[in-house]
Amino acid sequence: MELNLKGLDQKDMNAFHTLPSERAKIIYGSSPAAIKTTYTANQLASSLHPDIQYVKVAKIIEENDQVKTFVLVPNTEEKTQKLAYFRPGQYISIELKIDGGIYRRPYTITSSPKDALENFYTITVKRKKGIVSNYLFDHVKVNDTFSVSGPTGTFYYEPLRDAKNVIALVEGIGINQIISMALAIQDKILDCKLTIFYSVKTEKDILFLDKLIQLNKKNSPITIIILLSEEEKENYLHGFITKEMLDQYKEPETSFFISGSLSFYDRVNELLKEYNLSNKYIRHESFFGRVAIQNTNTYTITVLTEEKEISIPCNGKETLLEAMEKNGISAPSRCHVGDCGFCRSKLKSGVVRTFNNILTKADEENEYIHPCASFPESDIVIELPY
Ligand code: FES
Repeated sequence: MELNLKGLDQKDMNAFHTLPSERAKIIYGSSPAAIKTTYTANQLASSLHPDIQYVKVAKIIEENDQVKTFVLVPNTEEKTQKLAYFRPGQYISIELKIDGGIYRRPYTITSSPKDALENFYTITVKRKKGIVSNYLFDHVKVNDTFSVSGPTGTFYYEPLRDAKNVIALVEGIGINQIISMALAIQDKILDCKLTIFYSVKTEKDILFLDKLIQLNKKNSPITIIILLSEEEKENYLHGFITKEMLDQYKEPETSFFISGSLSFYDRVNELLKEYNLSNKYIRHESFFGRVAIQNTNTYTITVLTEEKEISIPCNGKETLLEAMEKNGISAPSRCHVGDCGFCRSKLKSGVVRTFNNILTKADEENEYIHPCASFPESDIVIELPY
């Protein structure tokens, strides 16, 4: 290969020729001590974003007969001494071994980030159909231990992107995604104005009522409006959120944070259409974006890992990740709704149906899928990330 030296003058050529000797001088003149392998910046990064944290249940609070709050502290007998800091609205993914399966599920942290500095998180769990929530609800006791991921997720207030005035529209257990933001404002960690429209069926379904009353104090930047859809009671509004209600709190620059069921999203999005907002002012939590699939066939999933190949059954109504969990295959995952990319795997053959339209163009071109958000439509071969 010929070098094109056109454009270089004599000075450049001289510098070029002295380069090797300059380098040699630096190399031979350097310290013989071993090269540093730990750097403060790396240590800080891994304390803020640990892959895994070992925790112990310090306390369980019964919020009502269907909801419990778990107070988690570091399990110092394992390797965790300090819990990672988080941004309000982020979640941790809990790993549990249940009946031979390995399950991971995301739970939003419902305490203030200030509490992480005091070395505890809370998560609030509703008993429902899901295997992990039911297990936590019915079997986990004080002093039980398990592992969780570092804080993950993008449903948080970002002052560089979001408006100073925030309206949160939440339904039922969706309050979990917003309560930490309200606590962070109270603790002066966040500086914004927050109005929460909290929609539940009846008064007994309201979560964190004492905290909400306390946050709603006069002259506080936080306003809480609770709507009951199935009963009329003093101190609460009745029915569904209306545009007239929002008009009272909307300012020219307002960010909307939405957390609730799919039907709640649809109704709220209809209301917000009238404001003609750009997308950046509407933030959705994605935990609820799951579709119901009516496919009763059973397929064979062949999973290729670094060491082995395993074939398992998967019915058409469950995601590939759910089938792997049930069969004790430890596949990486965090969000379970196709959002975080942790489970991204190569589809070697077969057809899947994905929900949430979560794949990037590059994923599609290179035949990657998110098993947490993919249902089988034929026998499948996938390769897990190593
Ligand atoms: S677990 Fe997050 S994308 Fe699959």
